[in-house]
Amino acid sequence: MIDTRDITKTYETPHGRVDALRGVTLRVERGEFLSVMGPSGSGKSTLMALLGCLDSPTSGTYLLDGRDVSAFDDDELARIRNEKIGFVFQTFNLLPAYDALANVALPLLYRRPHIGEAGAPPDRRARRAAAEEALLRVGLEDRMTHVPAQLSGGQRQRVAIARALVQRPEILLADEPTGNLDSKVGAEILDLFQQLNEETRMTLIVITHEADVAARARRIVEIRDGLAVSDHRAS
Ligand SMILES: Nc1ncnc2c1ncn2[C@@H]1O[C@H](COP(=O)(O)OP(=O)(O)O)[C@@H](O)[C@H]1O
Ligand SMILES: [Mg+2]
Repeated sequence: MIDTRDITKTYETPHGRVDALRGVTLRVERGEFLSVMGPSGSGKSTLMALLGCLDSPTSGTYLLDGRDVSAFDDDELARIRNEKIGFVFQTFNLLPAYDALANVALPLLYRRPHIGEAGAPPDRRARRAAAEEALLRVGLEDRMTHVPAQLSGGQRQRVAIARALVQRPEILLADEPTGNLDSKVGAEILDLFQQLNEETRMTLIVITHEADVAARARRIVEIRDGLAVSDHRAS
């Protein structure tokens, strides 16, 4: 479903050009659980932004389900992102004044109907039901009306995962999802990812600089200086 061919990304800065990605060719099939591992500055987040249709490559092509999204404009990128992709970040990015339910329901408020999808956008009751279901899936049924300040780091990340799941993405991209968590709580988040990947056909890509986090995936792609230097099954 993901098929990149020699994609590059060059940032222009006041101090000159930065070649963040220098030609990455990557194929990921539906339902895979993959990690992208590399040291800080190697281009991981840049690759995630391209795979997640947040940005376009400088050169190369990206076929997502056979469509060449590398040529898409911002509106087209937003639409396909909305339709297919969920994101989880290191810093959770929850709205502090909103409880877990409202944080998870929020993406549905801005959601455009998928191409070919019948019916109107979800109303308030439908949004709430979908948010409850997503929070149930991440094990937070007893924390739905808590605001982020009343939740632990691991619980906040579960809310963020539920917020990604509520849109039923085909691909979930997680950038250093355990980076702000201690190792025990981080391992629980990785257990949850593994369970979601096994129970659904959701493609899961976890980005990390930590070898033990990467090893939880079934396949590990290593990236150095903007190049994929190895691609192997986790042992
Ligand atoms: N928006 C940007 N503008 C300029 N340079 C950037 C930008 N984003 C990332 N970079 C540079 O691109 C390189 C790769 O960054 P990044 O993809 O964030 O790496 P990683 O996530 O592996 O730490 C780094 O040298 C970084 O400084
Ligand atoms: Mg990064």
